[in-house]
Amino acid sequence: MERTVNHLLLENKAWAKEKKLEDPQFFDRLVNIQRPEFLWIGCSDSRVPPNEITQTQPGEIFIHRNVANLVVHTDLNLLSVLQYAVEVLEVKHVVVCGHYGCGGVKAAMTRHSFGIINKWLRNIKDVYRLHQGQIESLPTEDERLNRLIELNIEEQVQNLAETSIVQKAWKKHGRPHLHGWVYDLHDGIIKPLTSLPPGAPLHHPIFEYDNLDE
Ligand code: CO
Repeated sequence: MERTVNHLLLENKAWAKEKKLEDPQFFDRLVNIQRPEFLWIGCSDSRVPPNEITQTQPGEIFIHRNVANLVVHTDLNLLSVLQYAVEVLEVKHVVVCGHYGCGGVKAAMTRHSFGIINKWLRNIKDVYRLHQGQIESLPTEDERLNRLIELNIEEQVQNLAETSIVQKAWKKHGRPHLHGWVYDLHDGIIKPLTSLPPGAPLHHPIFEYDNLDE
């Protein structure tokens, strides 16, 4: 069924009305403050809506989404979201949630040029290069893709731990806990892949800043 933008606006009115009927204070509670305990870094893919798949409400998850759920250390957008979530909202958990069948990762696995997004996908090609042996030992294209998707999520969790934002918060406040999850489009189930508690060792000590107390 084709939907018009008008349809979205009508549905929004119906939703707001229903919310208020269910819980008359719902909007009043959220209007002045947000206290989410989670930052979600996910893929932009329309089939992986964070609040819906975790049954959470407005106010519960701070969200950043991009193609293939990347944590790129020069991405001012992501870094601003991360800093705000960690330092101001004081989130307890940061979740990187990717998904099997990710088109971004699939594109990065090819040798095809896609224009400007090449620059973005380049980050995934680096993950491929780091784990080439493991990926190429798998027999089918689907298995290779899904393994790269998992490795990419694990790499992005490491990238988070390599930021001074996370390291500073680990040192000063003993939070946030970092998590890497993968969502399966076939059954709607999220599988936890990796988890880094505050202070966890990094891939290499060169990434550990030694002057964060200054
Ligand atoms: Co995706």
